[in-house]
Amino acid sequence: MKLWGGRFTKEENQLVHNFNESLSFDRKFYRQDIEGSIAHVTMLAKQGIVSEEDRDAIISGLKGILEDVEKGTLEFSPEYEDIHSFVEANLIKRIGEAGKRLHTGRSRNDQVALDMKLYCRDEIREIDELLRGILKELLRIMEENLDTYMPGFTHLQKAQPITLAHHMGAYFEMFSRDRGRLEDIRERMNRCPLGAGALAGTTYPLDRDYSARLLGFAGPTLNSMDSVADRDYVIELLSALSIIAMHLSRFSEEIILWNSNEYRFVELDDAYSTGSSIMPQKKNPDIAELVRGKTGRIYGALIALLTTMKGLPLAYNKDMQEDKEMTFDAIDTVKGCLALFTGMIRTTSFRKDVMEASAKNGFTNATDAADYLVNHGVPFRDAHGIVGQLVLHCLEKGIGLEDLTLEEFCAVSPVFKEDIFEAISMKTCVERRMTLGAPGQEAMRKVIQVYKSRL
Ligand code: ARG
Repeated sequence: MKLWGGRFTKEENQLVHNFNESLSFDRKFYRQDIEGSIAHVTMLAKQGIVSEEDRDAIISGLKGILEDVEKGTLEFSPEYEDIHSFVEANLIKRIGEAGKRLHTGRSRNDQVALDMKLYCRDEIREIDELLRGILKELLRIMEENLDTYMPGFTHLQKAQPITLAHHMGAYFEMFSRDRGRLEDIRERMNRCPLGAGALAGTTYPLDRDYSARLLGFAGPTLNSMDSVADRDYVIELLSALSIIAMHLSRFSEEIILWNSNEYRFVELDDAYSTGSSIMPQKKNPDIAELVRGKTGRIYGALIALLTTMKGLPLAYNKDMQEDKEMTFDAIDTVKGCLALFTGMIRTTSFRKDVMEASAKNGFTNATDAADYLVNHGVPFRDAHGIVGQLVLHCLEKGIGLEDLTLEEFCAVSPVFKEDIFEAISMKTCVERRMTLGAPGQEAMRKVIQVYKSRL
């Protein structure tokens, strides 16, 4: 069915139809389209613009369409241009004349603006739930690994000892901020565009506050041109999704490294690994690699939509139809990545012994040896030099600082006493780091309490 039959004389060319249509993808928000129409007609009836009888017929017709689509008995036949014309045409087929009154005081421009908002708002809730899921998993790993020592890195060189709990806590922070970003976006976008019409509002006495309230918005938008032309919130969402993907990608990179033969910090579960068709010994971290790899298409969606929007004059332009496919893809991709990644870390085993051994053999306690000297009155610069000499000596012998004899320590500085061994043990090195945010157990426990209250 064509919505603009009156003005046109020629049949639409098939290629033009195919190029112009959006039903093949905007069918994804059939539920939101129907939800919006129910609110619109409820408001129209309240204002006396349509009769209560017509309203009831329209609502039951719309609910019937929803049911049939969900049952699979009503198919999205490709003759319709978009989800809006599909629903309206089917409504008229079902209930006749009354169905023709639904579109009173509305345009597809405010309709699509509404549908997209409702869709993004629903998806934000789901993505937030998935983020909560990964946070719960991280919290579990943290609580189980408060004394699992491992090297902390800078420049991918072993730096100072930390714990696995502390390392996981860094990701906890990142995904918490991701939730905060989604919350901010939801808050800012939560204004209803319905009633903006094509661009300049309408002459019918619509109650925009009422329809906004029916749809769970904080209120109506205040400029009808902006209402139909605004896709900022989609761009913000894609930007938040890009950051989530970036976080997942960094985490994936670490899992891939840790799973390698060189690190052996983790053992991925068979269910989350794949084999090689030729090399029998291989167990590959494909899921982590795919999560890392899919980041590209999510960034792509962000840049694509920014570019689509950049030259558009006010108000609605058909270019904006391009917002959908990439946004849907980015949303589905991030949801898939979050779900799979959570499953992967839930089933990963951490090799505590390998992590601790790795922390030991990388001189991660060198700073603590220097601090020992400082605590015994040596200026830090001198202490740094003394420990540097000791490290050199250890490198020649192929041992760690803790393997030196007290005589060897004292040969470089007489300040060292027997208690140096205690001072540079992995346990002491970590536990003495008790400033808020540091890996010491006491500090970590405080932070974990805060994290728990957030979930
Ligand atoms: N499919 C269109 C979109 O996604 C719906 C709005 C169409 N409005 C119009 N005036 N052609 O943007």
